[in-house]
Amino acid sequence: MHQIICGMTESGKTTLAKLLVARLRPRYPALIFDSEGDDWPAEDADIYDDFEAFIARAKTERGRILVVDESGVNVNRWDPDHHWLVTTSRHNGHSTILICHQYMQMPPVMRGQTSVCWAYQQCPEDLEKISREFCCDRRIMLANIEHYHFLRINKRKEIWTGYCDLKKQEIMLKPLTFQEDN
Ligand SMILES: Nc1ncnc2c1ncn2[C@@H]1O[C@H](COP(=O)(O)OP(=O)(O)O)[C@@H](O)[C@H]1O
Ligand SMILES: [Mg+2]
Repeated sequence: MHQIICGMTESGKTTLAKLLVARLRPRYPALIFDSEGDDWPAEDADIYDDFEAFIARAKTERGRILVVDESGVNVNRWDPDHHWLVTTSRHNGHSTILICHQYMQMPPVMRGQTSVCWAYQQCPEDLEKISREFCCDRRIMLANIEHYHFLRINKRKEIWTGYCDLKKQEIMLKPLTFQEDN
């Protein structure tokens, strides 16, 4: 299962990715691409800042969580080798987390392969696209996403709202409800 985390700078995307990685460890060890030099836990020592080297390594591995931070500036939308991260990488048993500022920075061929979207605050055009490609519920565009909070949407059309509780080191989720549901 591949996931996409999108939202403005400083909204908490990398923090969320670290919790997701921690949750899946040690069964699925992470392989991380991070050009920003973020502080990943020592357990996740396989960190690359060269994108091509990261992909080359991923191709020799099996059963990893591949984290691509700053995907928006590093993924080339025309490069099949980059698409591989969410297409045939599943044959290696990988599960990929793409992190970007805007949902639409990722090409359609890659968006189409993700089954979970974690959406932090971003522009209405991106939320509209997420609603069309994930849940077909345009009301998510009206959801009040507070700072450090996100919507978690999957292709089974389930929508949650949540945030990372840094004290508990846990991802807190509850179903998103709309006024007319109450
Ligand atoms: N849920 C949260 N509660 C409090 N602080 C947070 C939370 N999530 C992130 N932060 C803080 O906000 C800053 C930006 O977070 P980061 O995950 O690096 O954002 P992004 O990757 O979206 O730019 C960091 O200093 C981080 O510790
Ligand atoms: Mg970040």
